[in-house]
Amino acid sequence: LKNLDTASLQLLVPLHGVLMGKEIVDNWERVEQFQARPDDVLISTYPKAGTTWMSEIVDMIFCDGDPEKCRRETIYNRVPYLEFRIPGEPSGVEQLEATPSPRLVKTHLPIKLMPDSFWGKNCKVIYVARNAKDVAVSYFFFHKMVKALPDPGPWDKFLDDYIKGDVGYGSWYDHVIGWWEKRNDYRILYLFYEDMKEDPKREIRKILHFLEKEMREEVIDKIVHHTSFQEMKNNDMVNYKTIPNELMDQSTTSFMRKGIAGDWKNHFTVSQNEIFDEDYKKKMSGTNLHFRMEI
Ligand code: A3P
Repeated sequence: LKNLDTASLQLLVPLHGVLMGKEIVDNWERVEQFQARPDDVLISTYPKAGTTWMSEIVDMIFCDGDPEKCRRETIYNRVPYLEFRIPGEPSGVEQLEATPSPRLVKTHLPIKLMPDSFWGKNCKVIYVARNAKDVAVSYFFFHKMVKALPDPGPWDKFLDDYIKGDVGYGSWYDHVIGWWEKRNDYRILYLFYEDMKEDPKREIRKILHFLEKEMREEVIDKIVHHTSFQEMKNNDMVNYKTIPNELMDQSTTSFMRKGIAGDWKNHFTVSQNEIFDEDYKKKMSGTNLHFRMEI
């Protein structure tokens, strides 16, 4: 990573109308032709919706609730990121090809860009959605931290770009609605970050049921504990502190930043909130998908 050209990684270009990192788009064929396996479990999210949290929960389930087994590797190596690509590093596809089954796969792709193979193999997908305002704030701070993402500029400008979908992975609206509408066509478990905050045990039980696994009460409690924000913040196998500073600078804001529902209230001005709400109402008017902006 020494001579990494972060400037070139920051370029976003549209792919079928969705802005994505140029590196990903330039190598799209490999992703498009990805061969899923029937026992792959996919974790899909719009960025900052709780991907890492869900990844650790599902890996804990796969490890029968043994935190030591989860410490075998960093989260990005235990749950490879399908479309990931940085020159000189193994791509997500390459990493996955070398991973024995059963595999856990992470993606941020909107459903219309998903490789067909996942549907052909009838794979299970866990989708996590988080309210638009908290995602905006979390994504803003993430942009400040990750050198492979464009400089977000001031919050006001970033929020504007985000509302328009002029950010990596495009519009939050298209993403959450796109996956929501298809949730009954495939094996998709659609969950919410706010529900996980409210009652993690209840949501973990839903995941266990979906994965057709049974676990003793005390094992479930162990998973709840191990995947709490406080535990994960201090766990170097999930907090991304193993990523070099040149790529992710956690000196001013950390990956495990706040981990709450409703932090947007500390960042949106009254006027930003009014503009956002008005636009939100329009964009969400055609769907029965509902979010809680706080709990
Ligand atoms: P904040 O920036 O609001 O704190 P992703 O993994 O999709 O990139 O999402 C990162 C967000 O999830 C960050 O949100 C992070 O703090 C939060 N997060 C990570 N682990 C969590 C946990 N165990 N409980 C609650 N939130 C968590």
